[in-house]
Amino acid sequence: MSGRPTLARVVPISIELAAGYREALDSVAHERKYLSSLEAPPIERSIAFVTANVANSNPHYVALIDDRVIGWCDIVRDSHPWKRHTGTLGMGVVAEHRGKGIGRELITAALAAAKASAFHRVRLDVYASNANAMMNGFMHRTGASPVPRTGG
Ligand SMILES: CC(C)(COP(=O)(O)OP(=O)(O)OC[C@H]1O[C@@H](n2cnc3c(N)ncnc32)[C@H](O)[C@@H]1OP(=O)(O)O)[C@@H](O)C(=O)NCCC(=O)NCCS
Repeated sequence: MSGRPTLARVVPISIELAAGYREALDSVAHERKYLSSLEAPPIERSIAFVTANVANSNPHYVALIDDRVIGWCDIVRDSHPWKRHTGTLGMGVVAEHRGKGIGRELITAALAAAKASAFHRVRLDVYASNANAMMNGFMHRTGASPVPRTGG
């Protein structure tokens, strides 16, 4: 499926899309397999997160199908002054829409924006149970060239 266009539209996040982003996050969190939280934060925190990403030009894209957010990818710049070229990536695609190239489109958009914004290193934290699928599967197939690290 490499590079094949999907039915989803991948667009930069905006405040108007914060609630939809939160719903998608909540759906993936409820699977209890991939994310560190078991549900999305309260809507106020999601709005604050999106607002900060927009204000700080952190790459944050969502995938839309019929105006419903069904996936996201964000890269949050590290706040420590000596780590300003590092970002942490978070992403997910709602289960029923996986395997259709949407994750690829999201990460491609986010990494391109990160490169344009002078990020030199993007970090992804995954559970050990998800590491092989993410590193040797998704990241490898999408050309994200991961360098595995453990701990800290
Ligand atoms: C990881 C995730 C975002 C991938 O999204 P997706 O839309 O299913 O991925 P795509 O369909 O774009 O797949 C892109 C490529 O990666 C491969 N791939 C995707 N998921 C894979 C997996 N679990 N194992 C192995 N390969 C995988 C696909 O086969 C595809 O390769 P191809 O184009 O050469 O055939 C999605 O599986 C997900 O939401 N997982 C749960 C959340 C998560 O783990 N987030 C990361 C931690 S923050």
